[in-house]
Amino acid sequence: MNLIVAVDRKYGIGKDNNLLARIPADMAYFKEKTTGKIIVMGSSTYMSFPKRPLPNRENLVLTTRPEEYPEVKCFPSVGEFFEYVRGNDDDVFVCGGSTVYLQLLPYCKKAYVTHIDEEFDADTFFPNLSELSNWEKVEESEAVESNGYKITFAVYENSDLRPMNV
Ligand SMILES: NC(=O)c1ccc[n+]([C@@H]2O[C@H](COP(=O)([O-])OP(=O)(O)OC[C@H]3O[C@@H](n4cnc5c(N)ncnc54)[C@H](OP(=O)(O)O)[C@@H]3O)[C@@H](O)[C@H]2O)c1
Repeated sequence: MNLIVAVDRKYGIGKDNNLLARIPADMAYFKEKTTGKIIVMGSSTYMSFPKRPLPNRENLVLTTRPEEYPEVKCFPSVGEFFEYVRGNDDDVFVCGGSTVYLQLLPYCKKAYVTHIDEEFDADTFFPNLSELSNWEKVEESEAVESNGYKITFAVYENSDLRPMNV
């Protein structure tokens, strides 16, 4: 699987169940990477979308309360989600939030990390992949500016991929 996330300098990703900033260039990057693919997220992230489900991609939601989200395919456990995507995992993008990133990170081969050169007052975080021995940065773009924020797009690879069985 793949993972996609935007982090600030302290690896903050959200506050009050919302993103830290609206960055059009990052939204365009997310759209480019995930359109036509399968996205999986926790119910809090799903509910944070102003319009849901996101169009032109399959939206999968991890939740213990599937009856609350009848418009999307829901999974009450990681194991059941793995069964569903087995064979298509190259097309899966894990897109948050913190609880889902932490559970699914070992099963992701690539992580697309947007680095935002700011420090926000975040309440939700993502791990610093540079501190994990099995993750290596393999690409990083030049800095771009969008809506007043300086961002770079980095790609990390996992050399210790865990097989998708739980
Ligand atoms: N910067 C970024 O790139 C980015 C991306 C995504 C999200 N975010 C931010 O992250 C924050 C939300 O993250 P979060 O960690 O609070 O919430 P989350 O991971 O989006 O959702 C947590 C919920 O997911 C469900 N869940 C998680 N693991 C499950 C499992 N194994 N089985 C069944 N259900 C499971 C549970 O839902 P139920 O309670 O319904 O059972 C749980 O309460 C927001 O601020 C959001 O804006 C940022």
